[in-house]
Amino acid sequence: MQENDLIRALESPAAAPLTPWELFATWLDEAGTTEINDPNAMCLATTDANGRPSARIVLLKDFDERGFVFYTNRESRKGQALSLHPQAALCFHWKTLGRQVRVEGRVLMVDDHESDAYYASRPKGSRIGAWASRQSRPLESRSTLVSRVEELERQYSQTDNIPRPPHWGGYRMTPDYIEFWHDGEFRLHTRLVYNLTEKGWERSLLYP
Ligand SMILES: Cc1cc2nc3c(=O)[nH]c(=O)nc-3n(C[C@H](O)[C@H](O)[C@H](O)COP(=O)(O)O)c2cc1C
Repeated sequence: MQENDLIRALESPAAAPLTPWELFATWLDEAGTTEINDPNAMCLATTDANGRPSARIVLLKDFDERGFVFYTNRESRKGQALSLHPQAALCFHWKTLGRQVRVEGRVLMVDDHESDAYYASRPKGSRIGAWASRQSRPLESRSTLVSRVEELERQYSQTDNIPRPPHWGGYRMTPDYIEFWHDGEFRLHTRLVYNLTEKGWERSLLYP
């Protein structure tokens, strides 16, 4: 998107693109050039069995019209929360650009082929790490983790062919709400909302 189109898009709902995807792609691209590291970092909020929320940063690894994909240990705290409540919220903050994107929707596991392909693309150390870390479980000492890593390194010293751990894989959050927030002077920020209805994406502005 050109800069002028971008400004117009945020001025009235009718001027905004019909779907949120183009705008999100533009903002993420721009963040890639302005943020020092991890422009794809996003805060992921889930809720547990008692409705208690928890939030942490994960990396966005893929997105398209089906949703936002991240990878993790499915037995982790977030994995357990998602198996009980497959709904979540994501929040991106790009400080340098003065922008935030908030996303809400349902979460599904990505299929095994997709998880396998992404796992295979990771460096060997990260693939070993996925086996070594019993993410979110108590760890008696750092040396226990180091020993687990060393043992796996010995086991796979002659090969790069490390299978994906069954408990490790991707999730895709399919949004029905996406809000683009742009910093404005005197706190008069812009908020452009996309709500998914039976008629498709409805666009509206919110007071800041
Ligand atoms: C910049 C950054 C990126 C991260 N990316 C991931 C990620 O993609 N997947 C992941 O499982 N944890 C990632 N983490 C670690 C998580 O924030 C969190 O500590 C971990 O997933 C355990 O969360 P849980 O106990 O709530 O399940 C990242 C942390 C930071 C600070």
